[in-house]
Amino acid sequence: MDQIRKTFDKWAQNGRAELMEIEHGKNVSKFLESMPFDKPFTFLDVGCGNGWVVKKISKNDNCKKAIGIDKSKKMIEQASKKTNKIKEEFIHTDIESWKYRGKFDFVFSMESLYYADSIEIALQKIYKLLKPGGQLFCGTDFYTDNKATARWAGIMKIQMHLHSKKEWRQLFFNAGFEVKTKHVKDLKNRKKWKREFGTLFITGTKPEK
Ligand SMILES: C[S@@+](CC[C@H](N)C(=O)[O-])C[C@H]1O[C@@H](n2cnc3c(N)ncnc32)[C@H](O)[C@@H]1O
Repeated sequence: MDQIRKTFDKWAQNGRAELMEIEHGKNVSKFLESMPFDKPFTFLDVGCGNGWVVKKISKNDNCKKAIGIDKSKKMIEQASKKTNKIKEEFIHTDIESWKYRGKFDFVFSMESLYYADSIEIALQKIYKLLKPGGQLFCGTDFYTDNKATARWAGIMKIQMHLHSKKEWRQLFFNAGFEVKTKHVKDLKNRKKWKREFGTLFITGTKPEK
């Protein structure tokens, strides 16, 4: 079995999915609060883990549909518990091979895209899944500029593509997106990198034409 799927199947069963929710929750919530969810929208979370972001977003009255996909079957089993089936859907698939006919207003992905075999292919796929004017919000704590997290790849022992902010911008640009970046810091956190660098969010907007 694919090493990434195997690792996250384990995480889904040993409590680390909930830990990720706690660990990522504050900065993701801060970022999402500043997002334009003021009109009816559809939402996709790529690498949704236990589904906490989909469950949060689906509570927004303007959210018409929120889908979470993950290549770990066990994560999807967890996410599918206590789900609001009218708005939410969880699907076991990787982004690269997912066959889906619809298009989304927003795609979100937290700490997931750098595990893709090819970030380039994953970004091309997401681009196609967005409506013109649609946006991809990609959060990462693992980036070269943030030296404290760069060692994670050695600890995890699975494929993790490490890029700098500049390289992330270029990857988004090459896929056709207009690009913006933002650091969301947690100034009171005991971890120095969370105070000084924080989570890097790369926003890609698909041009209208
Ligand atoms: C570090 S976890 C983050 C989970 C969640 N976004 C969160 O913040 O709690 C990364 C997740 O991405 C999933 N993943 C990795 N590569 C993927 C891919 N190519 N397609 C879909 N999911 C993927 C993993 O199975 C894992 O559940």
